[in-house]
Amino acid sequence: MSLRDKYVQSLRSLSEQQQTSVTIRWRSPSNIALVKYWGKHGNQLPINPSISFTLSECATDTSIDFSKKQGPSSRIDLQFYFNGEENVAFATRIKNYLSSILDICPYLVKYDIRIESGNSFPHSAGIASSASAFSALALCITSLEDIVFQNLSADEEFRKKASFLARLGSGSASRSIFAKAGWWGQSPYLEGSSDEFAVDGSGLLHPVFENFQDSILIVSADAKSVSSTAGHQLMAYHPYREGRLTQVHRHLGEIKSALQTGDLEKFGTIVENEALSLHALMLSSSPGYFLVTGKTMNVIEKIRFFRKNSSIPCYFTLDAGPNVHLLYPKEHASAIQEFIEHELTSDIKNVLFDELGNGPQQLV
Ligand code: PMV
Repeated sequence: MSLRDKYVQSLRSLSEQQQTSVTIRWRSPSNIALVKYWGKHGNQLPINPSISFTLSECATDTSIDFSKKQGPSSRIDLQFYFNGEENVAFATRIKNYLSSILDICPYLVKYDIRIESGNSFPHSAGIASSASAFSALALCITSLEDIVFQNLSADEEFRKKASFLARLGSGSASRSIFAKAGWWGQSPYLEGSSDEFAVDGSGLLHPVFENFQDSILIVSADAKSVSSTAGHQLMAYHPYREGRLTQVHRHLGEIKSALQTGDLEKFGTIVENEALSLHALMLSSSPGYFLVTGKTMNVIEKIRFFRKNSSIPCYFTLDAGPNVHLLYPKEHASAIQEFIEHELTSDIKNVLFDELGNGPQQLV
C-alpha cells in the first residue's frame, strides 16, 4: 500500500474533535540544494535524491484562519492575501493544490479558509519562494489535522506528514521542514530516506558546517523566463539523463562523506559541480535555455579567483536562476563581506546575508 493510501485510510478510523474556528501560523524557511533535484515523474516524485541546507532569514510567514462552515460542503473555499493584498492568482494555485490533496485531507472542505502570507525577504528579490511558501502551508494544514484528529503528537510523524504534503505542492519544499539540512529521495546512502517525503539531514553535519553562511548575491530579480516545472519536464527525454543520474548518485555518496568528515574542499568541489551541471542540463535540454547571465559568470569567476588567492574556503552554488549563493564558514564573514563590497558591486544588485537555520517555527 502506498503512503498516500495509508494516510487516506488512517483518518477513516479516527474520531473527529468538534472544532469551530482556529487560527494557525507557521514561519517556514527556504532552502538551498547542495545536490540538486532536477526532473520528476508520477505525482511529484523526484528522478533523483537531493540534499539541501535549510536557511534562516529567507522565510515565509503564513497564517490561516479556519472557520467551520454552517452546512455540508464538498469544495474548497478560500481567500488568499499576500503581503496584505488579496491575490487571486495565488488563491487559484493554492485552491488547485488543496483540491489535489482532498483524499488525504478531506476535513479541509468543512472550513472557510482565509490565508495571509508574506515573505521575510524582499518581494521579488529573485529568491525562490515556493519551498518556504509550500512548507509553511503544509505545516498549517498538518497542525489543523492534529487539532481535529489528535493523531500527530509525535514530532517525527508530524514532520513526515508535513513534508509529504509540502512535496505535493513543490518538491524542494519537502526539505524545508527540517533544521539545518534536509534529504529528499530514496538512496542507499541514507537509511530511512524516501521519495515520498524528506528526512532530517542534520545528523550528517560535521561541526564545521553548523554555522555555515549563505550570502545570496542578487544578480537579477526578474521573473524566470522558463519555470522549474517546465525544466523538470524537459528531463523526461533529456539526452544526458542517464549520465546525470549516475553523476548525482555518485555526488550524494561523496557529499555525505564530505559533510560527515568536514572536508570543505571536497564539499565545495561537489557543490560547484552540481550548480554547473544543473545549468548545463538546461542548456542541453530540447529546447535549450539558460537562466544565468553574463554577470552570474563574472561573479563565479571572481569567487574562484578570490578563493585561490585568499585560501578562504568559499564556494558558489546556483538555484534555477541567475543569482549566486556563496557558502562559507562564519569565521570568514568579515573577509567575505569585504570581498563582496570591493569586487562584486558592479555585478550585483543586492546581497541577502543568510545562514543555516533551525527550521520552521510555529508562531500561533
Ligand atoms: O521544487 P521545485 O519544483 O521548485 O524545483 C526546485 C529545483 C531546484 O531548486 C533547481 C533544485 C533543488 O533541489 O532545490
